[in-house]
Amino acid sequence: MPNSLKSEFLLDPDVIFLNHGSFGACPRPVFEAYQQWQRELERQPVAFFGRRSAALLAEARAKLAAYLNVEADNVVYFPNPTTAMNVAARSLALPRPGQSPLLAPGDEILTTDQEYPAMDRTWEFIAHITAARYVHQPIPLPLTSEADFVDAFWAGVNERTRVIFLSHITCSTSLIFPVQEVCRRAREAGIITIVDGAHAVSQIPLDLTAIGADIYAGACHKWLCAPKGAAFLYARPAAQEWLEPLVVSRGWGHQPPAGVSSLVAFHEGQGTRDLSAFLSAPAAIAFQAEHDWDSQRRRCHALASETRRRLNAFTGLDSLCPDSEQWFSQMVSIRIPGGAPGQEGAPALVELHNRLYEDYHIEMPVMNWRGQGLIRVSLQAYNDESDVDTLIEALERWLPQAAQPAR
Ligand SMILES: Cc1ncc(COP(=O)(O)O)c(C=O)c1O
Repeated sequence: MPNSLKSEFLLDPDVIFLNHGSFGACPRPVFEAYQQWQRELERQPVAFFGRRSAALLAEARAKLAAYLNVEADNVVYFPNPTTAMNVAARSLALPRPGQSPLLAPGDEILTTDQEYPAMDRTWEFIAHITAARYVHQPIPLPLTSEADFVDAFWAGVNERTRVIFLSHITCSTSLIFPVQEVCRRAREAGIITIVDGAHAVSQIPLDLTAIGADIYAGACHKWLCAPKGAAFLYARPAAQEWLEPLVVSRGWGHQPPAGVSSLVAFHEGQGTRDLSAFLSAPAAIAFQAEHDWDSQRRRCHALASETRRRLNAFTGLDSLCPDSEQWFSQMVSIRIPGGAPGQEGAPALVELHNRLYEDYHIEMPVMNWRGQGLIRVSLQAYNDESDVDTLIEALERWLPQAAQPAR
């Protein structure tokens, strides 16, 4: 097993950081590459934007595309998955010359009941302006098998289903959804697939060609450890035909130069902006390759699995999914007592969150998810067994009640 890479990261050494999932964390050499790009821009802004940026971006895009196993012209950098996803969602609602929007009144966008709130808001907005319906299909927990998942999800499909939107890895429950099989069935049924891969990039090895989604948005600033502001939108060539830019800039409305896709021509140039995070994504890919990331990922998954096993043994509560890399990777959500029905934060959980941070310097989300207490533990290359030991010690002391009867 490889060692923890704690000294490579810029994180506060006094904090036990178990929340990589929220905003990621950037290793020193990658952050230095980022600052170097910023300094280079400031040395000669006209040369940078006027003469160099297009080629630099093309190179950074090619490296990201190779990492994702897609053509370089089918992917473009965005500052975050929220923006990238808004491009796709809003394009479906836009009338096109002489044609109606792809989403018509009464059409359905099928999703799961475990999506990231900002993405739900985005699709609710799209449903609002198109009079389409945004339909949440419940996913029964615990997860059992891929076939059960797909059957349960597909029960929400009907003749009005025009779009399927779902997470590759969910934000609250940390579950890996079998998106490849969902995309395969959707293509057969002529349904557009849009996947939210914010947590998937680097947390699991990704082959976007094999997954076969029409649209896939991912974050580089989370698990790939790139600086904040690096994310991407991938679109299959057929889907590029209906994508319109969120911000219209100089590339739109002209025939793209030879060899440049409309995706790149319309979406890459977006006024004057800091490109440094995009240009540093290749340094993050290289950093992970140099540090044998497959081994780090396995080590972190083993820590996640062990954390859940130890905590379940203490609480007597069951898991959200089987103990397998098929269902979770470096991030695991674990049931705890103390949840309360309703939208308000459960007081016991708020208190637990405060105690963990104030008494143990543990940074980790504690959630009241549909009335169920959940902690979400992220294990990244800078974590080790001692972090897990401290977390278990703290939880054994502060959980609102100890052993629940096993269910
Ligand atoms: C599942 C999921 N999708 C999308 C996002 C949005 O990411 P960003 O805030 O970087 O746009 C997040 C953020 O945590 C997320 O968890």
